[in-house]
Amino acid sequence: MRPDHRAAPAPERGGTRSATAVAHPNIALIKYWGKRDDRLVLPRTDSLSMTLDILPTTTRVRLTPDAEHDEVTLDGVPLEGEARQRVVAFLALVRERAGVSHHAAVDSENTVPTGAGLASSASGFAALAVAASAVYGLGLDATALSRLARRGSGSAARSVFGDFAVWHSGRPGGPAPATDLPPDTEPAADLASYAEPVPSAEFDPALVIAVVNAGPKAVSSREAMRRTVETSPLYGPWAASSETDLVEMRATLRRGDLDAVGEIAERNALGMHATMLAARPAVRYLSAPTLDVLDSVLRLRRDGVSAYATMDAGPNVKVLCRRADADRVAEAVRGAAPGGSVLIAGRGPGARLLAEGER
Ligand code: PMV
Repeated sequence: MRPDHRAAPAPERGGTRSATAVAHPNIALIKYWGKRDDRLVLPRTDSLSMTLDILPTTTRVRLTPDAEHDEVTLDGVPLEGEARQRVVAFLALVRERAGVSHHAAVDSENTVPTGAGLASSASGFAALAVAASAVYGLGLDATALSRLARRGSGSAARSVFGDFAVWHSGRPGGPAPATDLPPDTEPAADLASYAEPVPSAEFDPALVIAVVNAGPKAVSSREAMRRTVETSPLYGPWAASSETDLVEMRATLRRGDLDAVGEIAERNALGMHATMLAARPAVRYLSAPTLDVLDSVLRLRRDGVSAYATMDAGPNVKVLCRRADADRVAEAVRGAAPGGSVLIAGRGPGARLLAEGER
């Protein structure tokens, strides 16, 4: 029987000297594209994803009371510049909440190519949120962990949960929250923006990932989102249609209707890329091999195979299909983009702390 990934991680208690957590990437079927608050990482729209059972990130956080700085390594190599700064800023947030000033050493092992639109920041910040909150003794439940992970990278809020997760924008109906709240009070919108599991039928979807280019992207998703929101005339209409897509997606997941799930996911992703193409200047992540893979997906459908594409902030294509068809789909996309590699993922688990013996 398929494992049940819906169980939320247990809340941790007290602080420890070191903790290790593992989290998996998620791929959005209804995309998050556009922030309304950069600092708090509040999205403009709700999004919905499937957590994968491959490409985990494992992160160990260790308190280093005598150190004057945080140390951060990724796959054994010290992180520098902007990437390091994001982790350090995240740790500073955790420390502020914990009222603890000790620095930490963070060692992360990523099986995802970093920054290639394969959701490395989602698994990365979900694992970091779980491990850091355990070490600093925040005692957070799954909802609060999701809110915290969001501050590192928006999509990380969803990787706290397994299977399908919806991330609520938490957009208040009324005016924007006051900016002069005392520093220890979270604005209401921050509290309202977190992910939670989405009920779904017992169906067995796979995502066949065509990695046409594993290199880092030319424009960060942060910058691309900002440019799209500020300059694309298509952004507003896409955001509005995305709300309807999400309502329909929830219903189709409950039914386990793979074709409907795929149709909605594909149109939502293509629409998101259309908003970027209409930005000024345009943001274009899709490359020639991307389009070749998209053509192969159309051919599969013409041949009667349920296969639907989604793409994120990069040229790689994720093809949603039935698990039973995954090998055939993988063969087709491999043929379409011979220079790349292909991975097959199923529904995966939420983020969790590793027990001592599992490390
Ligand atoms: O969390 P970020 O900043 O890496 O944004 C990722 C956004 C997309 O992957 C393109 C879509 C999504 O919802 O994951």
